[in-house]
Amino acid sequence: MLIGIATDHGGFDLKEPVLKALRNSGHEVRDFGAFDLNPEDDYPDFVIPLAKAIASGKVERGIAICGSGVGASVAANKVSGIRSALIHESYSAHQGVEDDNMNLLCLGGRVIAFEAAWEIIKIYLTAHYVAKERFERRLAKVAAIECKEQIK
Ligand code: RB5
Repeated sequence: MLIGIATDHGGFDLKEPVLKALRNSGHEVRDFGAFDLNPEDDYPDFVIPLAKAIASGKVERGIAICGSGVGASVAANKVSGIRSALIHESYSAHQGVEDDNMNLLCLGGRVIAFEAAWEIIKIYLTAHYVAKERFERRLAKVAAIECKEQIK
């Protein structure tokens, strides 16, 4: 799978082991930065380009890491076509894909260690959306509120 990854300084330390594990598992990974540890950098500068790449189909799914995962998720969901959530447990990692067609997983680099993050990532990447009528109906309602003001 072609996967995009983005972090700010808060997620920077977790990016390298995640990136390595993804590549070792046979995934192709596109890195949206940050490429240096800069305590002054801002998560939207990395997360929005990743979110746009997912929304336009340039990458299939994404992983965004900031300190808590909150800012990354907040920013990503401003991009039309992005269904992003902060997840630190396994149930939501697959249910979010199966029911809600989540296409961007957010993690908190200051909250979760690599081993636990990697378990969640593996579950997220092997889950598939189940296009049941009720899921489609709900997602259509969400899509309907994506308006012109949002980033495309
Ligand atoms: C950065 O210090 C921190 O605020 C950011 O990484 C993130 O946690 C925001 O949600």
